[in-house]
Amino acid sequence: MFDTAKYGPWAVIAGGSEGVGAELARQLADLGINLVLLARKPEPLAAIAEDVAARGVEVRTLRQDLLDPEALANVRALTDGLDVGLFIYNAGSNTYRGEFVDSDPAGVQGVIDLNITTPLAFLRHFGSRLKQRRSGGIIVLGSGSSFVGHANIATYPAAKAFLRIFVEGLWLELKPYDVDVLELCLGLTRTPAMERLGYDFDKPGRVSSDPAAVAREGLEHLAEGPSWLAGGLDLIARQRVGFPRAEVVTGVDASYRAISGR
Ligand SMILES: NC(=O)c1ccc[n+]([C@@H]2O[C@H](COP(=O)([O-])OP(=O)(O)OC[C@H]3O[C@@H](n4cnc5c(N)ncnc54)[C@H](OP(=O)(O)O)[C@@H]3O)[C@@H](O)[C@H]2O)c1
Repeated sequence: MFDTAKYGPWAVIAGGSEGVGAELARQLADLGINLVLLARKPEPLAAIAEDVAARGVEVRTLRQDLLDPEALANVRALTDGLDVGLFIYNAGSNTYRGEFVDSDPAGVQGVIDLNITTPLAFLRHFGSRLKQRRSGGIIVLGSGSSFVGHANIATYPAAKAFLRIFVEGLWLELKPYDVDVLELCLGLTRTPAMERLGYDFDKPGRVSSDPAAVAREGLEHLAEGPSWLAGGLDLIARQRVGFPRAEVVTGVDASYRAISGR
């Protein structure tokens, strides 16, 4: 049950222009929550702003690369005067592929910064505001890949694993202040970013989630942290079978090769 008094009147979505972030924006607008939406590409940002405004809420957008060192300062300039009740960190899909030992250090660092450095800076800021407010919510997007190591994208699931464990600690710390913290952990989900990465969602037998469905799950279960496993539950459940690890790692590797066609 989504508590509009607790999580409103404003929500900030880092990565709020496409896929799950855009669906979260639409559903929050339908609940009467005003929105601040951050992303890089202007066209999707303008399109979602028009869409949510038509649903009757106020919307502010900022073209911002979250990897820019000035990102938090720029977002603060836009949000310090707003009563923010909900902060969502959605951006974070994998941006680098290749064997780690042959990798470009800057590419690897980008994955770490988008999934660890920047979210921690934003969570410190908005978490502190919500703690002082003694009411609100935080959602951080996680990945089912983070329960086990993966070849060729070794940094991405490891960064998401860090984020999940971090969120568990933050959930404990903010609980006494009536601030709900949730890792919304996704399986394969049909988003523009994944389509750009080459995933063929129409391939026969491929199982994927719909962005609107997982967004709905996240908002409905926001108070049921620290983690909510949305969609793709079968694969995630298999990854969580603890030991022997070698069997788990090779089994999951085979599953991923089958679903990604790589
Ligand atoms: N889709 C899946 O199958 C799947 C599975 C497991 C977990 N997840 C997680 O779910 C979240 C959403 O994934 P997604 O597939 O929708 O892809 P995504 O690439 O994380 O994109 C989501 C949003 O973030 C914005 N964004 C991405 N990088 C940004 C940056 N550097 N600065 C500012 N904004 C940025 C995008 O807009 P711009 O590109 O215009 O900036 C878009 O609005 C991610 O955290 C991902 O790890 C997704």
